[in-house]
Amino acid sequence: MAEQLQPTRKSSQPSADPPRSASLPRDDVDRDVGNDETSPDPAVTGDFETGNTVELLDNSSIGDSAVDLPDDDSRFSDLGKDSYASSFLSSILSEAEDYYWDNGRRYHAHGGGRYLLPNDETELDREDMKHHEMMLLTSGRLHFSPLPPDPQKILDLGTGTGIWAMEIADQYPSAEVIGTDISPVQPKWVPPNLSFEVDDLELDWLYRPDSFDLVNIRFMFLAIRDFGAVLRQAYRAAKPGGWVELTELALRPEALGAEAVGRSPDVVFRWLELLKTGAEKRGYDYHVQKRFRSLLAEAGFEEIREEVLEVPWGPWHREKRLRAVGFWHMQQLTEGLQGITMHTLSKGLGWAPQEVELFLVDLRKDLSNLSFQLLDHCHVVYGRKRLR
Ligand SMILES: C[S@@+](CC[C@H](N)C(=O)[O-])C[C@H]1O[C@@H](n2cnc3c(N)ncnc32)[C@H](O)[C@@H]1O
Repeated sequence: MAEQLQPTRKSSQPSADPPRSASLPRDDVDRDVGNDETSPDPAVTGDFETGNTVELLDNSSIGDSAVDLPDDDSRFSDLGKDSYASSFLSSILSEAEDYYWDNGRRYHAHGGGRYLLPNDETELDREDMKHHEMMLLTSGRLHFSPLPPDPQKILDLGTGTGIWAMEIADQYPSAEVIGTDISPVQPKWVPPNLSFEVDDLELDWLYRPDSFDLVNIRFMFLAIRDFGAVLRQAYRAAKPGGWVELTELALRPEALGAEAVGRSPDVVFRWLELLKTGAEKRGYDYHVQKRFRSLLAEAGFEEIREEVLEVPWGPWHREKRLRAVGFWHMQQLTEGLQGITMHTLSKGLGWAPQEVELFLVDLRKDLSNLSFQLLDHCHVVYGRKRLR
């Protein structure tokens, strides 16, 4: 059996009814969305379908020892039983909390610090905001793949805060859900049909072939260098008739309001271009979502489908739901700006940290100008494993 994580993050039991308010793991008290700095117009942001406040959770234990659950905790005893014991899983577990700090941010050292984004509290907050944004964007759908009403096994690769895995476990009590990540930052109290494992998805998987109804891969473009290899493994692990679902932002926003503003948001476009170049230098395809359909087909999947969803950057859209999506998108983007940018530009392109910080000052100005009406797209691509 694969080693089970003994996660440290606290969470309330998630609701089974998406969309739900964002579970933002912060110590502060309820936040008034309408009063947030990111919103230029409280009247616009105050009427979100989500309500004015978000549920805030205590996660003060983050960073504590990752081994504080009793070994014999029966809730965890045999979940993940279809993943086989292996020496490399153990060796990854031994480096599970191999963190390092750089410019005030915490990163995982696995693979020589290959993953460029931090794994600290600020980043985890951002991940949960992104999930909330996705729930608004998809009107509460955790997946588009047409699953049976009682799926048996679901795998979430690079589970992050584990929020998607927790909600899918609640939605499908019939399913054994496994969330894997290199960082053991997931909550401690989770639905009984969910387990978290420390694992590197770029290594050989040890899951039983033909076993998963759904393999979920969301927001992983900066974590996976060879999507083809991962999808081949996902094909093997999926049940005949099982699905693999990939979700990624295009990161190519159009500036619909540029003409009215009298200029284009050049700093935003330059930033995206720099991130792309930096990521490519580290071996990642910044626009990999363009290849998802062909990669799924090459791996053997059929019935490949794609949903393309509009994502406004900031609360400028006339449609209420998309205004809320835009609000949360800008929230997570501005909160994550330094974390998203620092290592890609410093380690990828050799910028000094001070240069990055100065660049971010200009970037924030363009990003906060809602008149640019930046509109991006989210791609959800899914395919089915052949039925024998
Ligand atoms: C942007 S987060 C996505 C979180 C989650 N999928 C979601 O949608 O909420 C990427 C996650 O991938 C994890 N990761 C990076 N490299 C990985 C690897 N080689 N194997 C497994 N997880 C990895 C990171 O630790 C991080 O939690």
